[in-house]
Amino acid sequence: MKIGFLGTGLMGQAMIQRLLSVRVPLIAYNRTFSKLEALKEVGAEITSSPIEVIQASDCLILMLTNAAAIREVILSENAASLLANRTVIQMGTISPSESKAIQKAVLENKGDYLEAPVLGSIPEANAGKLLVMVGGTQTQFEKWSELLQHFGTEPMLIGEVGTAAAMKLGLNQLIASLTSSFALSLSFVEKQGVDVEKFMQVLRQSALYAPTFDKKLQRMRDRNYDNPNFPTKHLLKDIDLFLAQGQEIEINLVGLEGVRQVVSKAIELGFSDEDYSAIFSAIE
Ligand SMILES: NC(=O)c1ccc[n+]([C@@H]2O[C@H](COP(=O)([O-])OP(=O)(O)OC[C@H]3O[C@@H](n4cnc5c(N)ncnc54)[C@H](OP(=O)(O)O)[C@@H]3O)[C@@H](O)[C@H]2O)c1
Repeated sequence: MKIGFLGTGLMGQAMIQRLLSVRVPLIAYNRTFSKLEALKEVGAEITSSPIEVIQASDCLILMLTNAAAIREVILSENAASLLANRTVIQMGTISPSESKAIQKAVLENKGDYLEAPVLGSIPEANAGKLLVMVGGTQTQFEKWSELLQHFGTEPMLIGEVGTAAAMKLGLNQLIASLTSSFALSLSFVEKQGVDVEKFMQVLRQSALYAPTFDKKLQRMRDRNYDNPNFPTKHLLKDIDLFLAQGQEIEINLVGLEGVRQVVSKAIELGFSDEDYSAIFSAIE
């Protein structure tokens, strides 16, 4: 079986390397061709045509920015008609509604569709330690588990299509809220003249502590947001997906709207493509 991998951005690159390391044959597409060259050197077949990938593969893995990109790449008139008898595994972060709409379009073209968004970033992708959440049927889960295990040893079936996408947005809402909350307290204690190490010592012993605080502490203290694994613009995308979905189900989103303003400020400051810990600079 040959895998077609569409989208070789930050995560796609790492996930493809992982598949190649366990000798899964694949053909990769990316809109920007230059990002494919390194993959050719490590054994991937590469192409600038999504049509060619769809024709050559039984299973398509998508690691694209958003639903609009997915529609452009696999649901154009020319591409969609080729989806018959192919399985699409959507692994990027999109909303439950978007995932269900894409599922419908794939099924209309006689293809099969499941979602498998992931928690974790480039280091976890390199190590095969992503947390893979699957939205699909039990049968699909059993059929594709072996492949998904290359990305994370214990893929978990969450429920039907849409449920894994919802879980992923629930988790990314925590990334946004926890990080901005930590950045706010860090900025506050720094400006109040508190010894940050002592602040961390107390925080680490308390029930309030989350490991992500230490992961982001040095970047925030150094104001160094270089070489991101997850850029600020994608966090804003995910907040917006959560807000849109949250409005549909009528939950109170006022707290997250405040976080959104802070993340937007970080983007205004020029940190769109930098690590999202740049939230700190938007606060101070
Ligand atoms: N980075 C992380 O830590 C992480 C973790 C879990 C989930 N995710 C999610 O996974 C997805 C990919 O993330 P990433 O970090 O790899 O993002 P990225 O580096 O920005 O890569 C995005 C990919 O989508 C492609 N793309 C965007 N718009 C397109 C269009 N209109 N037509 C064709 N291709 C298009 C890009 O092509 P070009 O190269 O041509 O721009 C690139 O291959 C996102 O949904 C993200 O939220 C990311």
